[in-house]
Amino acid sequence: MSCGGEGESQRVPFSLHMLLFVWLLFAFCCLGLADVSVSGCNKAAVIFVFGDSNSDTGGLTSGLGFPINIPNGRTFFHRSTGRLSDGRLVIDLLCQSLNTNFLTPYLDALSGSTFTNGANFAVVGSSTLPKYVPFSLNIQVMQFQHFKARSLELVTAGTKNMINDEGFRDALYLIDIGQNDLADSFSKNLSYPQVIKKIPTVITEIENAIKSLYNEGGRKFWLHNTGPFGCLPKLIALSQKKDLDSLGCLSSYNSAARLFNEALNHLSQKLRIQLKDATLVYVDIYAIKYDLITNATKYGFSNPLMVCCGYGGPPYNFDVRVTCGQPGYQVCDEGSQYVSWDGIHFTEAANTWIASKILSTAYSTPRIPFSFFCRH
Ligand SMILES: *[C@@H]1O[C@H](CO)[C@@H](O)[C@H](O)[C@H]1NC(C)=O
Ligand SMILES: *[C@@H]1O[C@H](CO)[C@@H](O)[C@H](O)[C@H]1NC(C)=O
Repeated sequence: MSCGGEGESQRVPFSLHMLLFVWLLFAFCCLGLADVSVSGCNKAAVIFVFGDSNSDTGGLTSGLGFPINIPNGRTFFHRSTGRLSDGRLVIDLLCQSLNTNFLTPYLDALSGSTFTNGANFAVVGSSTLPKYVPFSLNIQVMQFQHFKARSLELVTAGTKNMINDEGFRDALYLIDIGQNDLADSFSKNLSYPQVIKKIPTVITEIENAIKSLYNEGGRKFWLHNTGPFGCLPKLIALSQKKDLDSLGCLSSYNSAARLFNEALNHLSQKLRIQLKDATLVYVDIYAIKYDLITNATKYGFSNPLMVCCGYGGPPYNFDVRVTCGQPGYQVCDEGSQYVSWDGIHFTEAANTWIASKILSTAYSTPRIPFSFFCRH
């Protein structure tokens, strides 16, 4: 199951070992790369992603021409890439952990890149429901089905470097969606019981998506549950009813997130029984993010409910009229350890921390290392 090339290391002279050791020590202590960069595959993994802005690597910009401006991208890419963050998203860091390239958005016609290592169907604002609206989950799955059929046609026609049947079968299918279904319901003034009542339909939609991907031959699934979206500064700032818990997060929103996650975990257990030859890993993103927000100071972060890129000052530094990248916004100094980038999305620093927790397997059921998804 390991992807490392350990066989080579026996021949490396001692001094080089020392050098490597010192370099690694440096990387671990000073660059915060600890768990993120240590695995890696010999053969690039193939990954397909379905989801919302938490995973969108440029789909909104490619698909709808919607501009996402600097300072988005300032920290890592040094230009705007269509990601809503100052740098890399969790999915980028997961890809890097397998030594595979960042995923190209499915809707990106002009990147000049090929889709040799998978494709990203996630788009900002996507929910599982409603159906047949760009780019809800079932649309993303239909786009995948088209992508697969067309790829296989091209393989048959002799086109090189396309994902073939085996590639689709061995690929990892990552799903991270649901936050918008719940958050949008609250922001449309639905009551807590009304929001909760929607959860089963959302879960059914995710079940249908996984089964469709399974029927297409997918056997490896990685399912993120939804985070404590009641701690997102934008939602706290805009909510009418501020039922805040001891951290300052919206209790009803987080309670809905936990009920959704319970149902998603239950679905995972059911699917592991029904889809016998499939591997399905459920990752508790809620616990990771809630730990980060609760214990921010301990982990070297500050102001977990304050926005880095926004306007208005404490307590949230969020103003819906002057959001990140819009005229008049203010942005925190580079290098400051904010958790929230723009009120909804996380900073690269936070995403790096979150990815390292995901890769630790401590939050995964079953506890399968991410390198399991290397191609063999
Ligand atoms: C939600 O309700 C509040 C007051 O109850 C009202 O001010 C606001 O406009 C409503 N929002 C929507 C989207 O209906
Ligand atoms: C915060 O840190 C403490 C001490 O390490 C830990 O016991 C607690 O579970 C953490 N909180 C969350 C929400 O994870």
